[in-house]
Amino acid sequence: MRVGIIGWRGMVGSVLMQRMHEEHDFAGIDAVFFSTSQAGEIGPDIGAKPAVLLDAHDIKALSGMDAILTCQGGDYTSKVHPELRAAGWDGYWIDAASALRMEPDSTIVLDPVNSDVIAKALQTGKRDFIGGNCTVSLMMMGLAGLFKEDMIEWVSSMTYQAASGSGARAMRELISQMGAVHTCVADLLTDKDSSIVAVDDGVSAMLRSSDLPVTECGAALAGSLIPWIDSDLGNGQSREEWKAQSETNKILDRDTSSIIPVDGLCVRIGAMRSHSQALTIKLRKEVPLNEIESIVAAGNEWVELVPNQRDASIDQLSPAAVSGSLKIPVGRLRKMSFGPEYISAFTVGDQLLWGAAEPLRRMLQLLKSYSV
Ligand code: HSE
Repeated sequence: MRVGIIGWRGMVGSVLMQRMHEEHDFAGIDAVFFSTSQAGEIGPDIGAKPAVLLDAHDIKALSGMDAILTCQGGDYTSKVHPELRAAGWDGYWIDAASALRMEPDSTIVLDPVNSDVIAKALQTGKRDFIGGNCTVSLMMMGLAGLFKEDMIEWVSSMTYQAASGSGARAMRELISQMGAVHTCVADLLTDKDSSIVAVDDGVSAMLRSSDLPVTECGAALAGSLIPWIDSDLGNGQSREEWKAQSETNKILDRDTSSIIPVDGLCVRIGAMRSHSQALTIKLRKEVPLNEIESIVAAGNEWVELVPNQRDASIDQLSPAAVSGSLKIPVGRLRKMSFGPEYISAFTVGDQLLWGAAEPLRRMLQLLKSYSV
């Protein structure tokens, strides 16, 4: 299988390449690397003799691929995908960007949750396989067991999203903001007799100052938060919030008569690359908590059930504990005071792994076994 890989140098692409190396995914495929800006230069080392990079806008070269895996972004997808299809290319398109996600012919890939939907799509000749929104994918990984058993009547997800969701430059800016905040009160901090009110005044002044770098994040993120992610749909909802219900139901391939409502507020916080979510779940019927815990824990091999205890929650259920790993801890599970069908949960997941790169590399593997 000839696989064209595009956008492999960016943040999601780099994580994807790292995971493909770790899992020996390059064995058994003929990987061909493309570039939007450096065609003709030498491509990455994947064990074989490095080859020359092809031009990522060369429709003829792209047409020679059985599959294309792109992390290049939505603008690239919007330009190149229609041109390729118009040229008659009928290969598989695997994409990290959202541009094609809600198209009727697209399938959102998250195989630990929807391998049946993916299998049906392949059997019926679907060709476009798109990674889901990170928050949606991470929520569904954590609640996979409850979704499989169709136990959820509705979910409200309140998110705590990391800077990585805004891109690599936002991550750098977050650290620069932290540095600026620290620098402006460093002398006061070393003086143990200084007033904490003076320290806080200095920090607050910096967070509101034009000296704070905000080009990427749009506002102070270090020592603060941003309660809006993505565009304003004009109905009070952000696009990020809209994705929750639309994508969840598309991932599960539920028709309009059986939609599971998913809604909440999406908030950017000063974590680096792991998104967290506080969930309120209404179950279709009352189920004992120990049964709910067993079902959640059995959802897939990456879910780690965290006992709803103080020390375990602090230790295991945070971006600091999760970043860089594939584990999806789910904790703070308890019945809420609203009634016996209402439960709370808290889950954390790496935005760049299960939230972006991992479903794509796994789709390529599925394709490999499908086309053998
Ligand atoms: N939209 C997500 C965020 C990242 O802003 O965190 C991409 O899925």
